[in-house]
Amino acid sequence: MDKLFKKMKPISNAEAKKRDEQARLRDFSMACNDARIHHEFIAKSLSDFNFTRNTCNRKQYVYIENYIKNLKRGDKGLFITGDIGVGKTHLATVLFKSVLWKFSWSGRWVLQADLLDSLRYMRTTGQYETLFRDCMNAHVLMIDDFGYGDFNDYLREQMFRLINHRLGGAMTILTTNCNGEELSRNLGDRIMDRVSEICIGVELKGDSYRGSKP
Ligand SMILES: Nc1ncnc2c1ncn2[C@@H]1O[C@H](COP(=O)(O)OP(=O)(O)OP(=O)(O)O)[C@@H](O)[C@H]1O
Ligand SMILES: [Mg+2]
Repeated sequence: MDKLFKKMKPISNAEAKKRDEQARLRDFSMACNDARIHHEFIAKSLSDFNFTRNTCNRKQYVYIENYIKNLKRGDKGLFITGDIGVGKTHLATVLFKSVLWKFSWSGRWVLQADLLDSLRYMRTTGQYETLFRDCMNAHVLMIDDFGYGDFNDYLREQMFRLINHRLGGAMTILTTNCNGEELSRNLGDRIMDRVSEICIGVELKGDSYRGSKP
């Protein structure tokens, strides 16, 4: 036995640090996978965001950059609103990934339309949907295109349950290009009042980045 221990060399501090970093990167990559981030945004970062089209968003960008730099547990999420294709999902996903990285949290990234689909399935089958449960319980939840879709009373009620559940503690990040009137009509004022409690609003403007580049 003694011989065995003699053969085992102690690892240096540098080696231990390197192994810790590798383990952290592995955990982060698994968390991103489990969160089901849309593949378009997995590799996007703050440095990919430029101002060649919309210089008007510089202030909002700096705000989000600082928000990410100074992230603390208990911080509210962001509710990024504005025009089509101006980078709402891009920046919201960078914030989402930063939270996963910084706090080693579990997360769920979901498109509102997919969530509605799963809620409709939940209603017809009577089965509690995994996606809905994941959204309720994720440390950080991102709903992309929030409030967009064909809502009925049942869907509104389930969205109310979800947003109400998100009050206190967990972080919720939202994006939408619906305006205030559309959000009130689709979701109702009780949901929107809770959203204003759990999120800070940031509005992006300008022309879409999709299609031919300048
Ligand atoms: N300022 C920017 N710099 C670089 N790429 C950008 C910028 N804004 C958007 N993009 C890119 O353009 C594409 C569309 O952006 P994104 O999906 O984030 O827009 P959006 O505001 O969420 O649009 P929608 O309202 O249709 O959901 C993405 O590939 C994104 O990375
Ligand atoms: Mg989007």
